[in-house]
Amino acid sequence: MTEQSPALDNLLKESRTFPPGEEFAAQANATAELRAEADADRDAFWAKQAERLHWDTKWSQVLDWSGAPFAKWFVGGKLNVAYNCVDRHVESGHGDQVAIHWVGEPGDTRDITYAQLKDEVSKAANAFASLGVKAGDVVAIQLQMIPEAIIAMLACARIGALHNVVFGGFSPTALRARVDDAAAKIVITSDGQYRRGKAAPMKANVDEALEGAKTVEKVIVVRRTGSDLEGDAPWTEGRDLWWHDLVDAQSAEHRPEAFDSEHPLFILYTSGTTGKPKGILHTSGGYLTQAAYTHHNVFDHKAGEDVYWCTADIGWVTGHSYIVYGPLANRVTQVVYEGTPNTPHEGRHWEIVQKYGVSIYYTAPTLIRTFMKWGKEIPEKYDLSTLRVLGSVGEPINPEAWIWYRENIGAGKAPIVDTWWQTETGAIMISPLPGVTSTKPGSAQRALPGISAKVVDDQAQEVGNGGGGYLVLDKPWPSMLRGIWGDDERFKETYWSRFADQGFYFAGDGAKYDDDGDIWLLGRVDDVMNVSGHRISTTEVESALVSHPTVAEAAVVGASDATTGQGIVAFVILRGNADKDAASGEEAVQALRDHVAKEIGPIAKPRQIMVVPELPKTRSGKIMRRLLRDVAENREVGDVTTLADSSVMDLISSGLNSDK
Ligand code: WTA
Repeated sequence: MTEQSPALDNLLKESRTFPPGEEFAAQANATAELRAEADADRDAFWAKQAERLHWDTKWSQVLDWSGAPFAKWFVGGKLNVAYNCVDRHVESGHGDQVAIHWVGEPGDTRDITYAQLKDEVSKAANAFASLGVKAGDVVAIQLQMIPEAIIAMLACARIGALHNVVFGGFSPTALRARVDDAAAKIVITSDGQYRRGKAAPMKANVDEALEGAKTVEKVIVVRRTGSDLEGDAPWTEGRDLWWHDLVDAQSAEHRPEAFDSEHPLFILYTSGTTGKPKGILHTSGGYLTQAAYTHHNVFDHKAGEDVYWCTADIGWVTGHSYIVYGPLANRVTQVVYEGTPNTPHEGRHWEIVQKYGVSIYYTAPTLIRTFMKWGKEIPEKYDLSTLRVLGSVGEPINPEAWIWYRENIGAGKAPIVDTWWQTETGAIMISPLPGVTSTKPGSAQRALPGISAKVVDDQAQEVGNGGGGYLVLDKPWPSMLRGIWGDDERFKETYWSRFADQGFYFAGDGAKYDDDGDIWLLGRVDDVMNVSGHRISTTEVESALVSHPTVAEAAVVGASDATTGQGIVAFVILRGNADKDAASGEEAVQALRDHVAKEIGPIAKPRQIMVVPELPKTRSGKIMRRLLRDVAENREVGDVTTLADSSVMDLISSGLNSDK
């Protein structure tokens, strides 16, 4: 295990608890009985949860774990995911209910009802089919937060094609890797996007990415920035199609086909401990069941009453499960916002909450800490009295931010749900239940009813209260990943080999039980960093750095950062022939940062790059990141006895000091 940072020590001294309000508890979706029911008969519990969905053919078996770790849930069942998220709400008489209150960054808005969403998704499904997209084909989507992003995802689901959404901030190189690995047939993007008040190109980056790509037949382009964009979007005749030309001409009638419960729904790439991102595969019936179940109970969502807003981007799993699938399956009315939280001013989110009467708000700790920095005077200017449930996801939330969130956004009473989960888990796994749980600032607390999590030591023994170790999931769950795209071995190796004898899923997070047996997440125990809730592997950034001609070797660590959780700090050794003075100058360091942004994306830009003469390595040649983290966090350097050459740390420190 990585050693604990001082911030985490403070976190564990936190002892405040906030019991649910009586009024809230009286109306809550979740009840204390839910857990008892799940514990009594897990399969029966999940079978009941699956009844939230419309099945064209009922399943014959809840779980088939005989091919572990490849699970099959609701075996033999057939359903259409898009029908469940859209059509059935129209059929039950809610066609006029707003599904999406969309807010563009420049201030334009669109309200889309379920009836309209059904038409749009049907047209897009017909359009994709007209291009030859069939069930099982892969469609890559790189789009900002505009309605077409959601429509495109649902249209894929409707025809059984897998979507592969790539975050808009990823570089052409990163997009290309994800398009190639998944063999995407179609790419969907936009001409440009509004970002901080300016129109920035999107299509141009996609074109750069697709140069020479073998599998892509068509590129569909949504017009968003139009003439606001400097210069026209580049165009390849015969390959590129405007969304409006293609989709608007289609019929709004489309018969959704029922697919097997285990039919693949999407691939979503996430960082692992090696440089190559993993294509996490999710399937249909179990995924949608758990997304809907958790959205209903964790957010206490009431269809037709609540206005929900999850501030994530569809480029991440939170956007998949808690903007698209869970909420829409539950007939949500939700806000989708295109832009950044401080455009054109720092009250933008609260202005939107006030305008639409948002009642459930789900965001990330990094943004909460940013709001704290901007000051409580900003939210104070707005009427936030409609907010009744607040959520947090992406990284451990520090108690200070938790309390600020509760006091300044939740009027001192809205329950906060700190939700732990991963791209791999597909849906929320550990979280308080609003109206049931007495919440604790900084703790995600208990596995949800129907889910089983444990904290174990190296020998797979569960630790006692007060003890720390590794977080494992010891029983299969409906929305679990079904594999890594095209790499079964890596799937088994990454998640199932650490505790192979016990058959535990190894999450890669450190965790601790407090005296009440509640779980506190302590961050990753592997070489994955968490920057503003985004997973980035140290190896990925290291490979990007060494691909620069001046760099011989690089080591990257995540150092704690007051706003972003972790910040990326890189140590680089320059090549022998590089002009050391010039290459370690400010300009050269900036060039390296830009190089990483170009290779991976701006989110992976190191906060700090230090040029060093040596890197600390063990005798077997493994870089001791622990020691570099000490340097990056300005701590006294820890135990160096396992270093091959213990003077290396002196060399690094003295070099850095002389730089100052
Ligand atoms: C971290 C995001 C503490 C954790 C849904 C996990 C959290 C990784 C929490 C997954 C939380 C997520 N408390 N840590 N509430 N939520 N994490 O795949 O390290 O982008 O393994 O999924 O984020 O990140 P991912």
